[in-house]
Amino acid sequence: MAEALVKTENIAKEFSGVRVLNDINVDIERGEIFGLIGENGAGKSTFIKIINGIYQPTEGRFFFEGEKVKRMNPFRAKKLGISTIPQEFNLVDHLNVYENIFLGQEHKKNALLLDQKRMKQLTRDLMEELEANISPEDRIDEISVAQKQMVEIAKAIAYESKLLIMDEPTTVLTSNEIDVLFSLMRDLSDQGVTIVYISHKLREVNKICDRVMVLRDGEFVSLKPTNEVTEHEMANMMVGRELNQMFPEMTTPREEPVLEVKGLSNDGLVTDASFHLKKGEILGFAGLVGAGRTELAETIIGIRKQTEGEILIEGEKKEISSPRRAVNNGIAYLPEDRQATGIITNFEVPKNITLISLKKYIQNFLISQKKERESTRKYIDEFNIQVPSINARLETLSGGNQQKVSLVKSLDTEPEIFIFDEPTRGIDVSAKMDIFNFINELVESGISVIFISSELEEIIGMSNRVAVMREGKITGILEGNEITEEKIMYHATGLEERVV
Ligand SMILES: Nc1ncnc2c1ncn2[C@@H]1O[C@H](COP(=O)(O)OP(=O)(O)OP(=O)(O)O)[C@@H](O)[C@H]1O
Ligand SMILES: [Mg+2]
Repeated sequence: MAEALVKTENIAKEFSGVRVLNDINVDIERGEIFGLIGENGAGKSTFIKIINGIYQPTEGRFFFEGEKVKRMNPFRAKKLGISTIPQEFNLVDHLNVYENIFLGQEHKKNALLLDQKRMKQLTRDLMEELEANISPEDRIDEISVAQKQMVEIAKAIAYESKLLIMDEPTTVLTSNEIDVLFSLMRDLSDQGVTIVYISHKLREVNKICDRVMVLRDGEFVSLKPTNEVTEHEMANMMVGRELNQMFPEMTTPREEPVLEVKGLSNDGLVTDASFHLKKGEILGFAGLVGAGRTELAETIIGIRKQTEGEILIEGEKKEISSPRRAVNNGIAYLPEDRQATGIITNFEVPKNITLISLKKYIQNFLISQKKERESTRKYIDEFNIQVPSINARLETLSGGNQQKVSLVKSLDTEPEIFIFDEPTRGIDVSAKMDIFNFINELVESGISVIFISSELEEIIGMSNRVAVMREGKITGILEGNEITEEKIMYHATGLEERVV
């Protein structure tokens, strides 16, 4: 058999003496799609960051195309043909899309002049291939999370590579976008490109990957062809025990509404949205990416200006012109783009949690660090958040554990109404179950929840009622046995109207 593209021998990694990856021996073959799964903090990102030279292994060695790698660094990795789509976006906000794609590898007309025309055309071609509606000249800070993800993908495939590493590329994409990405991956693999694919969406991993490696607590658990394992077995191997029911028993909400939204509009992003949320209810919001669900949430909590309509809380009309007012009116919001609005990665964990509820922590005009640490410790236990230490900076936590911190942060404001925007993004199966149970506990205690998710299974498994949005409008609100995948897709795509 031909030599492997990547061969690792006894790879281990420690951070300040803590071993997060131990004794990994694996061959990654040429042209295969190699899945990598494991719980949050299992060591997946660390493993690939060793391959692409962001980290040096503490022990062990690896070979690339049969050659022993002496000291990998990101620059060399790129030159050797290793491209990475990172888990956390790595784009420059104030630059355009095409400038980001060719950053550091600009095409030039001559020694002095950049070939802007060519770079823009190449960007246009890439976007066409990805079927993404993004113009080369869009600025990064003006595009959506899903579009940012597409730019990261485009950036990675803009250059021919031998190894394409994808660290959770689909968390913010919809099924259509994922289909496009998968067919692209298949083409690349047919051309001999090797792909390492990390994801918490086990169904996807099972579908797209040839083999799948499972890591648990930094240890190798198994490596098997995907046609020999089921999704369920993959989940069990990840957590090391038998998992049962995914969704908690649904609770019955009370009849009275806590939140009434009437004719809410916002400059074309949201048009004439009306709905109510009952006390103790989970109201799901489904729709395709760009349907306006996030924009609606942002309008309700005052990040975006409402141009028309009114918002009533417990029957009383409220002017919510800023997120602070939303907090004061008992509304908490867990944003979708945690990097842009949710958390501050170079702050420590306790500061991130207490940031918007600081008032609670003031004693004699000073913020009590003791109190901050106490409640942080409580949350860390309750949600099983893995931290290197309690005062660790957030950037040293694994992606999923950062998401948990973001969730806890909104909870710390003690809200009556909780808006979750894609709360399970990047979170492993067992942590997902924790979050579902947690949401269920919230509603059992009388808190009302708006649950935005692009995972239909989650929406159906969790919601008492489901509102569906399309192009900024609420196209249907489904109840009881109307809540089916078909009905939701109908309202989300507008197919129903076209048929008539
Ligand atoms: N720079 C660092 N300093 C200290 N600890 C780190 C650092 N980077 C990662 N870790 C720790 O290493 C462990 C593995 O993290 P890693 O990011 O590889 O997990 P992961 O499998 O990618 O998880 P996720 O699914 O949440 O992305 C975690 O416990 C994390 O806190
Ligand atoms: Mg990771």
